[in-house]
Amino acid sequence: MIKRFMREYLRFAPRLMAEWFAQTILGGVDGPIGMLLRRYCYLSFIGKTKGRFFIWSRVSIQHGYGLSIGSDVCINSGCVLDARGVLSIGDRSLIGPNCTIVSSTHRIDSHPISDAGHEKAPTVIESDVWIGANVVILGGIRVAHGCVIGAGSIVTKSTTPYGIYVGNPARLIRMREAL
Ligand SMILES: CC(C)(COP(=O)(O)OP(=O)(O)OC[C@H]1O[C@@H](n2cnc3c(N)ncnc32)[C@H](O)[C@@H]1OP(=O)(O)O)[C@@H](O)C(=O)NCCC(=O)NCCS
Repeated sequence: MIKRFMREYLRFAPRLMAEWFAQTILGGVDGPIGMLLRRYCYLSFIGKTKGRFFIWSRVSIQHGYGLSIGSDVCINSGCVLDARGVLSIGDRSLIGPNCTIVSSTHRIDSHPISDAGHEKAPTVIESDVWIGANVVILGGIRVAHGCVIGAGSIVTKSTTPYGIYVGNPARLIRMREAL
């Protein structure tokens, strides 16, 4: 497992070191000071940013070199963002507390599973999306512009713009009025 990790990710070592270091030091700092420090120091390992962004405390960003964050994005506390397969978050999108958003999955067709490696699957959260608390978004999903995802939902399929989705698996319950 360690050998496979080294083979796949050695070229990202400087970025990964910056990511581990910055999050260890600053990840748990509460309040506006923590938010401000993270906004500047996390630039050392996040792949692409566009403007202001707000990352609350205890957010875990994994493989941040694959993460792209639009302007005025807010990521609430306790979220886990896996960007190894590329994760893009559009302008003004809000991610509630304790969400898990992934862009990869373990390969499940070979044994042992610990050596099977990852299947990468780019995930996109478009702009002006609100994701409620405790949502899980699987790899390869596109959450379309203007959507709302209800608390506790598990999103297994891409969504339609301005839809409100809830449940496990997340289903469309109604549409928001488009701008
Ligand atoms: C998605 C949400 C915005 C929908 O609100 P709404 O439009 O007022 O929806 P309603 O309360 O009228 O519910 C409509 C139906 O969906 C169901 N529903 C609503 N939210 C749900 C959820 N998160 N999970 C499962 N079902 C849900 C309701 O039970 C209701 O079902 P019914 O018609 O069978 O009675 C809201 O329920 C929600 O989840 N908000 C997130 C809150 C949150 O996470 N806050 C912290 C993050 S910053």
